[in-house]
Amino acid sequence: MSAKNIILIGPMGSGKSTIGQLVANRLNREFYDSDRYIEQKTGVDIPCIFDIEGESGFRLRETNALKELTLLNNSVLATGGGSVLRSENRKLLQGNSYIIFLDTSVNEQMRRLQRDKKRPLLQTENPRERLENLFSQRKPIYQQLADYTVRTDRCQARKLAAEIAQHIQQQLI
Ligand code: S3P
Repeated sequence: MSAKNIILIGPMGSGKSTIGQLVANRLNREFYDSDRYIEQKTGVDIPCIFDIEGESGFRLRETNALKELTLLNNSVLATGGGSVLRSENRKLLQGNSYIIFLDTSVNEQMRRLQRDKKRPLLQTENPRERLENLFSQRKPIYQQLADYTVRTDRCQARKLAAEIAQHIQQQLI
């Protein structure tokens, strides 16, 4: 069996971390989350990084985290929603991996994130408009990168994780 990484991409609130952890458990693989990895390395949370270094500082740290995490084998990696923006990151993500896009409507993203305080990009007057803009800009990139797409609206994380794990096993990834 190959030792590719399974990488989850998709917008904020698509369930990458929750589903990623469940898929990793099912497949007996290590799970990593690039945002948590950045927080562990810096010792501060994502909002603090945005406050001090701005989005550009965060994006640099994100690229550095992806450089390290994509060197792994046989893991499951949940990425940040904006990690697909830099072409450098896209190359890293595509290296030794099978990429799964968790496709989620803006309504569902809103439902899951409406009280969220940990996403600096959503601390605005109109988070729905922000999510719409981000998704229309990023969806074509997610689609282009994806080896497999799963719609996550109104689905239980456990059920989706079971489906994804089964798919991965069938593909011998
Ligand atoms: C971001 C998504 C976040 C996090 C940061 C920026 C984005 O990750 O990386 O707040 O640009 O969409 P999640 O997708 O895990 O929420």
